[in-house]
Amino acid sequence: MSAEKNKNDYVVIFDTTLRDAEQSPGASLNLHEKLEVAQQLARLGVDIIEAGFPISSQVQFDAVERICAEVQGPVIAGLARTIAKDIESAAKALKGAKRWRIHTFTSSSPEHMKHMLRMTPQEVLVRAVEAVQLAKSLTDDVEFSAQDVARSDQAFVQELVAAVIEAGATTINIPDTVGYAIPAEYGRMIADLCQKVPGAEKVIFSTHCHNDLGLATANSLAGVINGARQIECTINGLGERAGNASLEEVVMAIRTRKDLFKVDTRINTTEIYRTSRLVSRLMGIPVQPNKAIVGANAFAHESGIHVDGLLKNRSTYEIMTPESVGVTQSMMVLGRHSGRHGFKARCEELGFELAEADLNVAYERFLDIADKKKEIFDEDIIALLADEIVDVPKMYVLDYMQCSAGTKTLPSATVRILKGDEVLQEAAWGDGPVDAAYNAISKATGLEPELKNYSIRAVTGSSEALGEAILQIGYEGKTFVGRGVSTDIIEASAKAYISALNNMMMRVNAKQNGKK
Ligand code: KIV
Ligand code: ZN
Repeated sequence: MSAEKNKNDYVVIFDTTLRDAEQSPGASLNLHEKLEVAQQLARLGVDIIEAGFPISSQVQFDAVERICAEVQGPVIAGLARTIAKDIESAAKALKGAKRWRIHTFTSSSPEHMKHMLRMTPQEVLVRAVEAVQLAKSLTDDVEFSAQDVARSDQAFVQELVAAVIEAGATTINIPDTVGYAIPAEYGRMIADLCQKVPGAEKVIFSTHCHNDLGLATANSLAGVINGARQIECTINGLGERAGNASLEEVVMAIRTRKDLFKVDTRINTTEIYRTSRLVSRLMGIPVQPNKAIVGANAFAHESGIHVDGLLKNRSTYEIMTPESVGVTQSMMVLGRHSGRHGFKARCEELGFELAEADLNVAYERFLDIADKKKEIFDEDIIALLADEIVDVPKMYVLDYMQCSAGTKTLPSATVRILKGDEVLQEAAWGDGPVDAAYNAISKATGLEPELKNYSIRAVTGSSEALGEAILQIGYEGKTFVGRGVSTDIIEASAKAYISALNNMMMRVNAKQNGKK
């Protein structure tokens, strides 16, 4: 990606959902889930996918390697400290991709250099130059970052950046690691780098803003106004602490205010909503209803004056259309009589190419739901496919469940779970029916992870809507996500718990087979 060509044309979108967001607490994904997200990011049209930090574990290494082998389109990047073994490991994991990038990083603030790296600024600079030279000997595409630039001495940052450009870096990333900067200040840092650093015209400057003060999107956009041509961001703004700049916000701001930015991105914005839902579901982190662009209320108009205006002309209260980000009106698409062919066709229109066996399973499930629910909406189909079509081996399958609860009864549940040919059956009490079901499942499986959070939502609006339960469990310091879908919310909750146990057991088995 040449800097010269790109200077005025478009802003490169570098998605770090699989690295910066995935490393944050409770957001971890298994290999299949990472591949699913990476494929969707490719459909969304991101320029670069940061797939992980290969040296940090065998699981990370394998995920980066598989994404490189299977995901076509975007450049695949891997993170590495300014340490030779990190850079070599990143190159090894990345080399199967058609186009790949090593992203090497150090720190430039006094706080980080003194307390974390325990190095002098001169040592940091020498190490950074050596790292970039090594990376450059392995690939032409080298990105350099200095963490915590916003709290750094800007004269030192400029000296460091000049040195790594000389050493061969092609993208210079300017992280506000702790979310400290305000837009005017961050914009000035980028402008100064563009103007003062020798060799600046040869590289692309990139923003990487965290959201601790709620300014990540504003800071990233200030960077673009001042010359940055790459934005590092994540889906739903997920990431360390308060998160990163949100992809959907920066992209739609640039698209909607093209008059001001005079650049564009190459994102297919109609894939935004679907990507947001997928990441939320797989990471088990719900999107707040008033979240810009992708929240449930982002395009909802309630007040009489607004609705009246909209009916007269949508532009009165809409600066972008819901359709432009892939939010379509919930249409009644299918019912019991639509048939297997109709179901398959709709799945394909929604972007799911199902293998025959998966289609059979999904269709059976669709018929079950159609018996209980007259109208099946697109969102229902997406939720049921996400629930059924998972590549994680299902060690445990819920075969039967009965619950009783009421105002004057002690809530109880009986479950029958299949573990291969083995039948596990138990009954238990609890504080409520969901608690009772979880206690019965724990007794039957002998697994007692910590329940970290749990949420249930109606997939569509009516009282007969499908319920989707999403939860996270903690086990041996790791977090596992589970989700379940049913017209019965207790059953959805039980399925979510069992799906989290299956994810957990896949990890436990991988560990026993020697993966870190
Ligand atoms: O926030 C940060 O500084 C980072 C770097 C590793 C780029 O994520
Ligand atoms: Zn970061």
